[in-house]
Amino acid sequence: MKGLILSGGRGTRLYPLTYTSAKQLIPVANKPVLVRVIEAIRDAGIDEIGIVVGDTAEEIKTAIGRGGRWGVEVTYIRQDQPLGLAHAVKVSQDFLGDERFVMFLGDNVIQGGISGLIGQFSSSGWNSQIVLTRVSHPEQYGVAELDNEGKIVRLVEKPKEPLSDLALVGIYMFDHHVHEAVDHITPSWRGEFEITDAIQWLVEQGYDVYPYVHRGWWIDTGSPGAMLDANGLVLEELTPAIEGYVDRDSEVDGRVTIQQGAEIINSVIRGPSIIGERSRIVNSYVGPFTSIYHDVLVEDSEIERAIVLEHSEIRDIPARIQDSLIGRQVILARSPIKPKAYKLTLGDHSQVGIL
Ligand code: G1P
Repeated sequence: MKGLILSGGRGTRLYPLTYTSAKQLIPVANKPVLVRVIEAIRDAGIDEIGIVVGDTAEEIKTAIGRGGRWGVEVTYIRQDQPLGLAHAVKVSQDFLGDERFVMFLGDNVIQGGISGLIGQFSSSGWNSQIVLTRVSHPEQYGVAELDNEGKIVRLVEKPKEPLSDLALVGIYMFDHHVHEAVDHITPSWRGEFEITDAIQWLVEQGYDVYPYVHRGWWIDTGSPGAMLDANGLVLEELTPAIEGYVDRDSEVDGRVTIQQGAEIINSVIRGPSIIGERSRIVNSYVGPFTSIYHDVLVEDSEIERAIVLEHSEIRDIPARIQDSLIGRQVILARSPIKPKAYKLTLGDHSQVGIL
């Protein structure tokens, strides 16, 4: 089997972070989501992976390269316009050939990996397998209607009046018949070639499409809130490890990972949380569900349920920072220079909550 990861898309809901960075490269528990996806596919025994890229192609290529670091071989496939998931399959036909494959959205994080699913599909004669999960807002997803025996009756993309609460998770398995399906569908109201419509076509033609209902958590990290949720969930599953330095005046409790070269000085770190390589936490409090990435300084401040990206500095902030996503090379500090005022340099679409 081959793997196909979709990593195009502009990530507009994560502006301003995604002005300068592909959303799939934002780290969750200090590892980019895209790397988590590559590892999940590799752990399922697949080492030939195609990554569909768009505007952020160069950045993704720089970060992932040919995939050797993860023991896989990566081929990049260009999708010039984000015309939908079925369109991504279309542009990948040369890479996929007639092989069975798993398609995984590059910004999705799923509990427990996909080894079980892949094992089941690769040894089956099914034409496709889809992954479903129960959600509270099915109208935001592709939705599946199943009959009493659990067979698929119908699939609809973002229905106004959903017939069930079973959403399509961004993980799909196909054999070569999907290529015929993507050639038969037309763009949806949002102008995209929907993979949901292609699967519906397979069902209508009598192909064998098998649903699997996933019971753990699954998160599409497309928005800041979802990113923080995913971060918390992954942190809860990390095996704690103290590889950096913690001084005697500090307190570290719960599931905490301190990565190599990090220093914790006179601070309290509560898990689940992770402190990245060479980062320094000084006279501060880092609360649960926080990921501090590499080369960050947090001094005389408190932070909880947050993600801070590399080379940022947080110094002497009087109130606790919470529920926050902070980009790279950000400086958040109390200014001694008069007048006493908020002095901000914020990118377009920044969001700041003041006490
Ligand atoms: C896409 C699919 C949808 C699926 C969702 C999962 O939606 O079209 O069927 O439920 O991914 O994340 P999109 O993210 O393009 O709105």
